[in-house]
Amino acid sequence: MRRNQLDLKTFKVLKQKMDEGLLPQWVTTDPEIYELEQEQIFARTWQFLAHESELKEPGSYVTRWMVNDPILVTRNNSGEIKAFLNSCPHRGAHLCTADYGKRKTFTCAYHGWSFNNDGKLIGIVAGDKVYGEGLAKDEWGLRPIPRVGSYRGMIFGNLDPNAMPLEDYLGDMKWYFDILLGRSDGGMEVRGVPHRWVAKANWKATSENFAADPYHVQTTHRSTVEMGISPSDPLYAGYGHQVVMSNGHGINVITSATGRSKHTYQGMPESMWPMFDRNLTPEQADIASRTTVFVGGVFPNLSFVSPVHGTGGHLHNYLNFRVWRPLGPDKVEVWCWFMIDKAAPEEYKEEAYRGYIGSFGPSGTLEQDDTETWARIVEANKGIMARDKELNYNSVSNYLMGFGNVDPDPHFPGPGTAYPTCYIDAISRSMHEHWLELLTKDLVDLKEEV
Ligand code: FES
Ligand SMILES: [Fe+2]
Repeated sequence: MRRNQLDLKTFKVLKQKMDEGLLPQWVTTDPEIYELEQEQIFARTWQFLAHESELKEPGSYVTRWMVNDPILVTRNNSGEIKAFLNSCPHRGAHLCTADYGKRKTFTCAYHGWSFNNDGKLIGIVAGDKVYGEGLAKDEWGLRPIPRVGSYRGMIFGNLDPNAMPLEDYLGDMKWYFDILLGRSDGGMEVRGVPHRWVAKANWKATSENFAADPYHVQTTHRSTVEMGISPSDPLYAGYGHQVVMSNGHGINVITSATGRSKHTYQGMPESMWPMFDRNLTPEQADIASRTTVFVGGVFPNLSFVSPVHGTGGHLHNYLNFRVWRPLGPDKVEVWCWFMIDKAAPEEYKEEAYRGYIGSFGPSGTLEQDDTETWARIVEANKGIMARDKELNYNSVSNYLMGFGNVDPDPHFPGPGTAYPTCYIDAISRSMHEHWLELLTKDLVDLKEEV
């Protein structure tokens, strides 16, 4: 079927296909779908902007993007976090073009209006002579992002003034964030600056890869098996639990076949274990101490992975957060943060950082494996054949591995619906269902119409 425009009939068909576990291939990179995603999803959901450790002191700032909206995030002189549209309200010039720094004021390069780190307009070139008393300065400050929230140091923004509170949006994910971000006294800190690069990929494919797809690991990252870094057991990334949450979020809690990791607390120094035990609930400590890899995502486009890397006596663990900023239906700008426990020994932090650089980010071997695959998806989905073919989201247990034959594990101690395997399409399906729900919200009531 070739569509000329998105209409009710198109969405009805899409919903029916998805209920059967089939995802029409054209939706991945369709330009009209992409346009709708901007309005229906990215303008309404919480998006990650920065970690508080990137804004250490009053006057610190970073510049970010919420898809096409440039954002200026500041810590004002009172220490509060603020976020503004990084565009001068006079003629709209992009105000601050540096990536980060420390400033009390921001001066526009076009006509010289200046603003303080609270967003207030404080200076107008030749103001008295040009405007006299006629300009109400209070009304011409920087435009604040409608909603800003933070959880465990993670600062998010939302362009929808009526959006649900951040904590409600994160829902069950908070419990897992408490493990990843709250296990240490002092929390986590960003080391270095976020790496950025552009990849040929659709944001849904990259988000799904992290949130929902340990099944790809044994094949895409086969070289790690061949080098003896990963186990040769083809099920090795499938052991553990895949946890589905509301609002399209999900996490994979990957262990070994025994349900434990060889490396207690992901290979973090033993001296830190009592601190983890103290900061976590017994259930969280149980999971954190026996997990090898946490990998997941916050819908729509924030992903994270907390792996164990290294061999012999040189193990390291860290947290990598990344935002897939859509630049089009077939392109993303990747923003990639390295985080580590503030309380970890300096030597360990440096070693972990080196491990991260070798695995993820623009120079990382694992990163390049995935990037190649995402580009191939984009290339294959734009052709004529893809217009009426479907992708295989056929089951909760895996694309074509038997619908409904895996039940949730009632004994898993964490919140969410936990399936006792990570080789399963549970999060993929939930993500896409949520995607369709948001995409069609206010447009059609599919439940009633179909
Ligand atoms: S556009 Fe910024 S001062 Fe004119
Ligand atoms: Fe991968």
